[in-house]
Amino acid sequence: MSRTGFLIVISFLCVFESYQKQLPNYIRKCSLKHNLRECAIKSANDAIPFIVKGDPAYDIPNLSPLRIPFMSLIKTKDMSLNLTDVNIQGLDQAKLIDFVPANVDKMLFDIVLAIPKVTINADYSIDGKIMIMPVNAKGRISLFLNNGVYTYTVVIKAVEINGENHYQIEGQKLEFRFDKISSDLESLTSTDETIGSFPVEQVNELLNENWNTLLRDFGPLVSDAVSSLIQQIMNGIARDVPANGVFLPD
Ligand SMILES: *[C@@H]1O[C@H](CO)[C@@H](O)[C@H](O)[C@H]1NC(C)=O
Repeated sequence: MSRTGFLIVISFLCVFESYQKQLPNYIRKCSLKHNLRECAIKSANDAIPFIVKGDPAYDIPNLSPLRIPFMSLIKTKDMSLNLTDVNIQGLDQAKLIDFVPANVDKMLFDIVLAIPKVTINADYSIDGKIMIMPVNAKGRISLFLNNGVYTYTVVIKAVEINGENHYQIEGQKLEFRFDKISSDLESLTSTDETIGSFPVEQVNELLNENWNTLLRDFGPLVSDAVSSLIQQIMNGIARDVPANGVFLPD
């Protein structure tokens, strides 16, 4: 490399190093000490319409709709369920309904989101047993999650990135409840409208009548997938903005 080229690279690195990002301009800062709860709720709800459009500068994916190429939704010894070409609509209607500083010293917070209607469309591929019957099928699935309330417990940790203090959000647990879940399943594997040995209609009925049981069994696995998405969004911002730029100073 020529001497000039070398110098250009060095000065570019210096500029890069000293370049500190601020919070995105659509997020208003709050103080950890004063009115944190009220401020965070207002700030988040004002920011959501911007966040859901996506922001490549902070690695925030477009959320309206959110497209995910592949999700291994269930992976147990009895059951494998993958979704591909996942399209999730309705996240843009999310509202932060509470922000509970459960323990400010430990930086432990409960983020409570309400989303009136989430629609998930995807291609599924399932292999395993449902109620002892072997099921091996592919098809289209639509899921409708009505009036969901999602409570996400996070710990905000201090970490050092390139000698600078940053926050890092670690999800502890995600709980959700719904007024109603319904689904619509189509089989693409068989010509005779069955999924495994069940008629498609019967599977749909079975699913729609047993969502609460299924949610209890498989909810934790789904919740892992969702919580890593929320973490990705929050850490996309936290990674870029030094800790002293996240909250108001007093
Ligand atoms: C789901 O994807 C995994 C790869 O991540 C694969 O091993 C498994 O066989 C797939 N299951 C189904 C039912 O397609």
